[in-house]
Amino acid sequence: MALPPAFLDELRARTPLAELIGRRTRLIRAGGRNWKGCCPFHQEKTPSFYVYEDHFHCFGCGAHGDAVSFVMRAEGASFLEAVERLAAEAGLEVPKPGPEAAERERRARDLHAVLAAAAAAFERRLRLPEGRAALDYLHRRGLTEETIARFGLGWSGAGRGALAADLKAEGVEPEQLVEAGLVRPREGEGAAGGYSDFFFNRVMFPIRDRRGRVIGFGGRILGDGQPKYVNSPETALFRKRRALYGLDLAREAAFRGAAVVVVEGYMDVIALHQAGFGGAVAPLGTALTEEHLEELWRLTPEPVLCFDGDAAGARAAERAALAALPLLAPERTLRIATLPGGEDPDTLVARQGPRGFQALLDAARPLSEALFAMLAGARLPEAPEQRAALRNRLVAVAGTIPDRALAAEYRRAWLDRFFAAAGSARRAAPGGIGARRFRAAGAPSPRPPRPPLDPPAVRRERARILLAITLRHPWLLDEVEEPLAALDLPEGEATRLRAAILACHAAASRAEGAGALDSAGLMSQLASMGAADALAWALQGAGLPTAATADAQPREALDGWWHFFGYLRGEADLVDDRRAAERALVETNDPAAQRRLIRLTEALAALRRGDGTSGQDGFAGDP
Ligand code: UTP
Ligand code: MN
Repeated sequence: MALPPAFLDELRARTPLAELIGRRTRLIRAGGRNWKGCCPFHQEKTPSFYVYEDHFHCFGCGAHGDAVSFVMRAEGASFLEAVERLAAEAGLEVPKPGPEAAERERRARDLHAVLAAAAAAFERRLRLPEGRAALDYLHRRGLTEETIARFGLGWSGAGRGALAADLKAEGVEPEQLVEAGLVRPREGEGAAGGYSDFFFNRVMFPIRDRRGRVIGFGGRILGDGQPKYVNSPETALFRKRRALYGLDLAREAAFRGAAVVVVEGYMDVIALHQAGFGGAVAPLGTALTEEHLEELWRLTPEPVLCFDGDAAGARAAERAALAALPLLAPERTLRIATLPGGEDPDTLVARQGPRGFQALLDAARPLSEALFAMLAGARLPEAPEQRAALRNRLVAVAGTIPDRALAAEYRRAWLDRFFAAAGSARRAAPGGIGARRFRAAGAPSPRPPRPPLDPPAVRRERARILLAITLRHPWLLDEVEEPLAALDLPEGEATRLRAAILACHAAASRAEGAGALDSAGLMSQLASMGAADALAWALQGAGLPTAATADAQPREALDGWWHFFGYLRGEADLVDDRRAAERALVETNDPAAQRRLIRLTEALAALRRGDGTSGQDGFAGDP
């Protein structure tokens, strides 16, 4: 349901952003009409969260948006809920949608009412004599009355039109039951042939949406038998790719601080809730989809996925982890927990109590770690070919993360682990054949040893020059954004200034495309973002090469940039970068990849020649 843009503009104009955000985090003036404070979306001690007239931006975690998205994120509200809340505060009325949308909504409302009536009928039947066996079954599985009521569990009846008969009294027509996925026309008999029940002789589990409205059902057979569970067919309201069992309850619990945990089955969710883990949810017998992940991240930045300890569980975990990478962002990640073999969460809490499951959650591994273990396997391979293949795969998988800084962090963390594991494997097996051969042949290690870092003052000065060139020639960013983002810079002015520059560049290219940023515009934006001190540091007085002056020719600016980049990056990483660039060129055959490869090759050559040991040889400038 689209709202008129004019209404949304009015709503934003009438919502003082600093006041709204100020209720969540303490804000202090940051020059002009801007404010800053500690980011409400990630843990930090020094403020990097800025509030402007019409939007907020966090230079720490990248959170960014307007009043509506702030309410959505801070309170886990949907778009419409956020709009309604803000409109109520601003004294505005949310406009009614057009006739078509109204009709759609009326039908949806009717369908919700039908499903709610069906759920109530199933609950009633559970309490009739015919529901006795089902109720006993639930008790035998350890569910309390309170839990049965909280999840609205019921009994389907034995079929033969029981549900239609129950609901006829409430004015529900058979066609509505068809639409709700509860009955289907009897095959081959046409409309006159009547309907058959979709669910019969089953314990009924109503599936609710995030707002607690019933959208479908799962039904379990009593005891053994196939199929064990059946789920409602897809309907206008029920989409398995989206729905999560227990979401409505988990959402409330998550706001009270419960961990959001994804498990496999209905009974797992219920047992966990009863054991005090109110954040448990499950997909409906399908693999976890993108839509599921998006829904989970609306509740928490770091849901835990819980998988079986067997081979199927490991495959499911790997599939989910790989599917998550293209959706990751600095404030959206996952953790992965693995159950002991043969247990599901339901049996685990039955056997070990809440503590047992808490220990499992505490031991959940960050996504990057879990994924490394999945990709690398229990032991790193020994053969160079296999090792190279693994490295390539690590780099390629990290490359599926769209956030460049994050992708670079994954790549770096994985390669560090790769080399650390390789080193310790060799050290751990001093008498091993591999180790002896290595030494006997005097083979060089596969990577040049990292030379000690330059003295901090030299690194700081090089970082300053690199940023000064970027400030004077922001058009460079279209080419160098990614390497700049991934570069290790000294903490302080340099990292702050880089974050602010990258944010301005991202915003400008989103709004106007490549090359949109000019030097003066960039600097005034940086100053208004509270980065004036870092700006002054970068441009201060003496020592800047020609490349960092406004008059430098484009070629000079580019050469200078890559030159200082090469020094800051260091030889070992440049070698890696160049290999990655070679592969990228082979895969994409894209001119940008080719340019990148040339630059890296030049930077590496310059570094190896030992140009610019003073930091600026070859660049005319103030002495
Ligand atoms: P499980 O068999 O692990 O479910 O299937 P469970 O919750 O542990 O079942 P019980 O009651 O303790 O024996 C996990 C999920 O897979 C889907 C259901 O969503 C189930 O909760 N499933 C399973 C089906 O859709 N159909 C089936 O026949 C079996
Ligand atoms: Mn089970």
